[in-house]
Amino acid sequence: MIWLIGNRGMLGMEVETLLNRQKRDHIATDVEVDITNIEQLKEFVSNKPISWIINCAAYTSVDKAEDEPELAFKINADGPLNIAQIAVKKNARLIHISTDYVFDGTKEGAYLETDLPNPINIYGKSKFKGEKNIAETIKTYFIIRSAWLYGKNGANFVRTMLNLFREKTEVKIVADQWSSPTYASDLAEAVIRIIDIDPVTFGLYHFTNEGRTNWYQFATEIYNFAKIEGLIDRYVRVLPIETGQYQTKAKRPVNSYLSKEKISRDFNLNLIPWKESLARFISTSRHGL
Ligand SMILES: NC(=O)c1ccc[n+]([C@@H]2O[C@H](COP(=O)([O-])OP(=O)(O)OC[C@H]3O[C@@H](n4cnc5c(N)ncnc54)[C@H](OP(=O)(O)O)[C@@H]3O)[C@@H](O)[C@H]2O)c1
Repeated sequence: MIWLIGNRGMLGMEVETLLNRQKRDHIATDVEVDITNIEQLKEFVSNKPISWIINCAAYTSVDKAEDEPELAFKINADGPLNIAQIAVKKNARLIHISTDYVFDGTKEGAYLETDLPNPINIYGKSKFKGEKNIAETIKTYFIIRSAWLYGKNGANFVRTMLNLFREKTEVKIVADQWSSPTYASDLAEAVIRIIDIDPVTFGLYHFTNEGRTNWYQFATEIYNFAKIEGLIDRYVRVLPIETGQYQTKAKRPVNSYLSKEKISRDFNLNLIPWKESLARFISTSRHGL
């Protein structure tokens, strides 16, 4: 049986959709089974034959985390530690999601799994501590670092841009932070693929859609596809700006482009180019956007 944690979040909902569609034996929880409360977790899993745990639960408000470091660490570092301890007890395999924000962004090229993290904001620090807690507690784990997630559910960049394009005549977007967008549905497929292959190559993996871009280019493509789909019927000027012109509470890495070579090789995964996934997302979700 698979235990999906965080099933009401953006990624968790996509994973649950797949589990339901494929009629897989699973149970799913969110805040009602609090990952920061080990006793609650123990009670929940007792008498359940859990063989896989997928953890999509997290504290994900990057800017707010600067004001709430204790809560961010409780959920993103203590939570994964508790889950890893439960996985050991149940002899289960654990798939945990982490982030490109564990890196400081100073590397020129693509970040490999062997590159040393050096997070520059509280969210990144809390997620990195969560990774370390898992690696020190359990052997049968997969940590998948992803980046710039968007999907049907919850707040995300695509939804924010579409709202802005409907309200404004001019939108200025940061053009000097580089990474890759990730359609949550594609990441959910990758998670299920790992379970299907049931590999023994445990450890750290990077997964995003294919191709490197910046927020401005990403926004421009959202605008173009939304126009094609008839989601916007007005002209909006989309302008590039520098990070210094857009103040945020948390610092972001300038480059958090992740190499996906390892995951595509080990799990024979075909990575989808980010523009292709974005077009598919906008055209299939157009009624909800
Ligand atoms: N979003 C991105 O751009 C991005 C990028 C890279 C990596 N990631 C990682 O990808 C994963 C999924 O992200 P997401 O955007 O899908 O997150 P999300 O939408 O914020 O979902 C996280 C879910 O976890 C729940 N949760 C929070 N605290 C909990 C607790 N103590 N016990 C149980 N559940 C709890 C949340 O409930 P509430 O909403 O009620 O708090 C929410 O339903 C996370 O690990 C995140 O760090 C995200």
